[in-house]
Amino acid sequence: MDALAAVEALLSPEGRSDPFPYYAALHEHGPVISLSDSYTVVVGYDALGRALRDPVLREEGVEWVQLRWPDVADHPAVRLFSDSMLFSGDPGHARVRRLVSKVFTARRVAELAPAVERLTDRLLDRLAELGSDGSPVDFMAKFAYALPVSVICELLGVPEQDRLWFRPLVADLAAQLEPVYSTEHLAAADAAAVSLLDYFTALVAERSAEPRDDLVSALVQVRDEDDGRLSDWELLCNLVLLLAAGFETTTNLLGNGLALLLDQPGRCEALRADPSAASAYVEEFLRFDSPVQLTARWAPEGAVVDGVVVPPGGEVLLLMGAANRDPARFERPDVFDPERPANQPLSFGGGPHFCLGAALARLEGRTAFGRLLERFPRMEAADGRTRRDRLTLRGYASLPVALASAAGGGQ
Ligand code: HEM
Repeated sequence: MDALAAVEALLSPEGRSDPFPYYAALHEHGPVISLSDSYTVVVGYDALGRALRDPVLREEGVEWVQLRWPDVADHPAVRLFSDSMLFSGDPGHARVRRLVSKVFTARRVAELAPAVERLTDRLLDRLAELGSDGSPVDFMAKFAYALPVSVICELLGVPEQDRLWFRPLVADLAAQLEPVYSTEHLAAADAAAVSLLDYFTALVAERSAEPRDDLVSALVQVRDEDDGRLSDWELLCNLVLLLAAGFETTTNLLGNGLALLLDQPGRCEALRADPSAASAYVEEFLRFDSPVQLTARWAPEGAVVDGVVVPPGGEVLLLMGAANRDPARFERPDVFDPERPANQPLSFGGGPHFCLGAALARLEGRTAFGRLLERFPRMEAADGRTRRDRLTLRGYASLPVALASAAGGGQ
């Protein structure tokens, strides 16, 4: 298959549902592939790691949006993302990332471990209740979404009663991250952006008046102490980013991981027998079926990516999902193998934008899988599994499971 046909297929509904054959086809064309003057695709593991660290390749932030999509540049949904740290370049990115990292520390994440365990156990109790008569329960709605949203909201200080409200809003907002995105979706994304911005504006006002021991209060303090170096708008954009990135992706780590285990009962048993292997399983879930399959950069002045010339203004698609299956880096890349040595997938990106929440996502993953399997020894897949029609943020829409197929099982 030629490279252009493979990329077109990847962007089609079929490719979104199963991108892996197209990644394999792209690997035949080398680590970096020039499709046209406008598009270059990176699939090689080493090349992609270098591209993420290349300062000549810039984030697709305000400047890029104004050049490529001037009609939508001022839409609230577009502004919200393009002004967040995820899409900002230096010097702004380094400044905001440093300020946020001052309060979103490794210590704060580590201190969250007991809360993650408590929330996991509470949700498992609820799952047990719902599935006690043998009827299937949707793992995505009742656990995979519920745990990460509760954890990030606990960290930020978002009250419990508001948490269920975020799921459809963030799904609408995050649709912008897909490579094929029609302006039809923009109305829904704008409505979501306005609601989320209003919500956080009110929460910031509350925490400014009465600070608590939470991340929103800590960031409000950073804004005030650092004398305007974190503006109100930057604070809001990055609070919404933390919320969205905090659960949208981790939800899919939990769903994609459980689906893999249910499809391979031997692996499920092995992990149940040795819960200390949970971290290695999480790394292999991330490699094999990454919740974030791709990101993109552009080259305002042009670039040379591993010997391939990108003309000025060209876009560079970085397919992490493909790099994680690079046969030059991973032996038998299409085999799920949690025991593979030196397993370092690129699922959290790399370089200056390396995922700020990687430690939190890993903590949630290993806590959830360890406790879930122990709690439900007879858990099985049930009918009706559906994938979301998305490539960038890959996951399931629903994943029904039967928890207590044998009498009293799972209780
Ligand atoms: C399995 C779960 C997760 C995956 C696969 C993931 C993946 C990623 C990736 C690939 C990037 C870099 C994108 C790029 O360079 O263009 C990123 C950035 C980011 N992630 Fe995550 N993420 C996850 C969980 C989280 C969590 C739990 C948080 C929590 C707060 C979070 C917050 C962020 C933030 C703030 C950034 C932007 C960092 C920057 O631009 O400097 N992520 N994530």
